[in-house]
Amino acid sequence: MKRVREWEEAPAEPFEHSYTGIGGHAESQDVLTSYSDQHSDRNRKRRKGKGRARQQPQDGITNYHSVDEVPPRLKKYWDQRYELFSKYDEDVWMTENSWFEVTPESAAIAMANRLLSSFSEPTVVLDAFAGVGGNSIQFAMHPMCKHVYAIEIDPIAVECAKHNAQVYGVAHKITFTNMDTFEFFNSGKINGEDVHIDAIFMSPPWGGPQYSSHDVFDLERLKPYPFSKIYNEASKITSNLAFFLPRTSDLNQLADYAMPGERITAVHYCLGYRSKGLCSYHGILGTDHSYHVDDPDIALREDRQTL
Ligand SMILES: C[S@@+](CC[C@H](N)C(=O)[O-])C[C@H]1O[C@@H](n2cnc3c(N)ncnc32)[C@H](O)[C@@H]1O
Repeated sequence: MKRVREWEEAPAEPFEHSYTGIGGHAESQDVLTSYSDQHSDRNRKRRKGKGRARQQPQDGITNYHSVDEVPPRLKKYWDQRYELFSKYDEDVWMTENSWFEVTPESAAIAMANRLLSSFSEPTVVLDAFAGVGGNSIQFAMHPMCKHVYAIEIDPIAVECAKHNAQVYGVAHKITFTNMDTFEFFNSGKINGEDVHIDAIFMSPPWGGPQYSSHDVFDLERLKPYPFSKIYNEASKITSNLAFFLPRTSDLNQLADYAMPGERITAVHYCLGYRSKGLCSYHGILGTDHSYHVDDPDIALREDRQTL
């Protein structure tokens, strides 16, 4: 089945392009989707930190206010600051690495919509490589999200993520933990407590820009953790997994992970017609559940995807 939207009407908006495989056999499906989401303030007037006193960030945290403050190697990302966080001017904090690692906000919204539409009950999500909170915040903002556990190994990134969740008003829905996510996969415990997780979202490190030089990216080259390690360890917690991966990731390799009858869906997330990466959805996340949602707010968003 092919569903194609007239996305030319909104060229600056992101769109999805997905492929689906069932039990390792290829079935192709194209979905072009444009988003104009109520959560995105990108087209609204920028507000300059109104109503909140600015906190002084610790060393290692950037909150540049003008391009003159930005080091040369990050200058090309400065123009994208509102694509990364629409509330950038409201005192968003970032680490230097997060300028090129954070999931752009519109993609994070689309990922949250897709993942949470797989559930009919309020859902607990683990963001296993949470960075400065780009994905955790958008999961927490979604009405179907009950709670987010955000695990991050870099303590400075955790401080940024906590602060950014306050900027977006969702800190109360997120538990931030500074730990190695593989410890959680093996113990099932956060802060010594057993936690129930419905789905795990993972945006692991890709190992630097070398990935883009491969026509087809071998998922075992993800650094420092090959895909098989992350998949096998995360599967100890749940089979409902989502991975944000390089855009040239080997789809045949991904299809090999499908259990009999399981559908894996890979969705490209694009900005300005260019894919920023693809997300593979496994377990019940691999099936398109767009139309079972009763919540009028979510139903409206899903309708927009399929006009
Ligand atoms: C691509 S970034 C995630 C970006 C995040 N989605 C966002 O929007 O801010 C990957 C993150 O994984 C973290 N990380 C790497 N190894 C980890 C581990 N073993 N446990 C937890 N976090 C880890 C890195 O410090 C980095 O912040």
